[in-house]
Amino acid sequence: MTLEADLGEAIGGRHVIVDPSVTASYETDWTRRFAGRARCVVRPVDTQEVGSVLQLCSRHGVAVVTQGGNTGLVGGGVPTGGEVVLSTSRLSHIGPVDTLTGQVTVGAGVTLSALQQAVRPMGLDFGVDFAARDSATIGGLVSTNAGGERVMRYGTMRQQVVGLEAVLADGSPLSRLEALPKENTGYDLVGLLTGSEGTLAVVTAVRVRLWPLFAHRSVALLALESTSAALEALAALKPRLGSLEAAELFLADGLALVMGYTGLPAPMAGDHCAYLLVECADRVDPGDAMLQALDEVSTLVPGLVDIVVGEDARSRASLWRYREAHTEAINAIGVPVKLDVAIPHDQLERALRELPAIAAQVAPGARTILFGHLNEGNLHVNVLGASDHHGVTDVVLRYIASLHGSISAEHGVGRAKTEWLSLSRSGAEIAAMRSIKAALDPGQVLNPGVIFPD
Ligand code: MLT
Ligand code: ZN
Repeated sequence: MTLEADLGEAIGGRHVIVDPSVTASYETDWTRRFAGRARCVVRPVDTQEVGSVLQLCSRHGVAVVTQGGNTGLVGGGVPTGGEVVLSTSRLSHIGPVDTLTGQVTVGAGVTLSALQQAVRPMGLDFGVDFAARDSATIGGLVSTNAGGERVMRYGTMRQQVVGLEAVLADGSPLSRLEALPKENTGYDLVGLLTGSEGTLAVVTAVRVRLWPLFAHRSVALLALESTSAALEALAALKPRLGSLEAAELFLADGLALVMGYTGLPAPMAGDHCAYLLVECADRVDPGDAMLQALDEVSTLVPGLVDIVVGEDARSRASLWRYREAHTEAINAIGVPVKLDVAIPHDQLERALRELPAIAAQVAPGARTILFGHLNEGNLHVNVLGASDHHGVTDVVLRYIASLHGSISAEHGVGRAKTEWLSLSRSGAEIAAMRSIKAALDPGQVLNPGVIFPD
């Protein structure tokens, strides 16, 4: 029997897709940077079916790429050629919300926004949030240890995962969903699988931590003369505002690009070097506290030159749009080199100043758009108009390593950065990671070519 026939018997023929007009959307990432033909796309409905798929693929010696919402940015969720794509779209069950523990178990294919909508009516919220919320899935968030816009208050995905269910390459299930608050028996496999980018197991369900819903929000956009001033403003705001949960940075050229793409008017008069979007959330309206803190900070930080406050839900949403539309606006212009890096705060001003010239060393005339999550020193480096993507990646990542930064802050290594893994991990660390991979997936069935260089 062919693999396709075996798979059809295990999960139902209509969930084994071979029609190229249907498989096409699973074969290219949404930035159009990574693409490859899938042997077929399978859509198992539960952990048991995922186990059957992996058992069969292992037996036939065919590799598997797991795909959630296909919003990944490092090519870890699309095939390179000949793999089975395992879509988590039917793993979409949302369990009952446990308000006592503040936890819920959801299928790996549940989108971030579906989770938010399920828990918010119960007075609870989820700690990770970012612009791709309508497509990105919880399984994908776990696999990449996603970060996003609320890390300052809630941490990354790793801090939200209290348990999970997953299937190893040979089809064996691992179930750690009970999630007792105290549980110290042996290795932390849940922690190991979080951030493993589909290379060690297929995550099928996740038990996540929930937080009290803060229904009242205040947003302000700060204009600054420099990124050091943005850092000074953030350092002054943090001790004054316990309800602060977002501090997002963008620059003048990114704002201009977003305004051209969205048709939004300028948020304030004049051109400024840097913009810092801050948001507070609380049980009661944090507006007055935020205004008072901003007032104090503007006398302390001379480089803070203007402030616009979002008075109502509509103006708050449009202030967020200036930041969140960066990704779409960049994509609308062309296929960017997208590099997600973290830089120590004391090197950030320098990096923001030097990065365009660093990219231009191999891509003269290219346009470098920088934005990111200021509190974590997490910059998204987007280079448009470069023909040599490999060359740009090489100079930028080497430069970041020279500043003692990380080559991957929140998007993962994927296929995009394998060659540069040793810039952020020692030989001993890479050897230990390879041993774990070899022990759990000796046949190299799960996402071969991701994280490790060949
Ligand atoms: C973001 O912060 O908007 C995301 O990481 C997406 C991106 O880097 O384009
Ligand atoms: Zn980001």
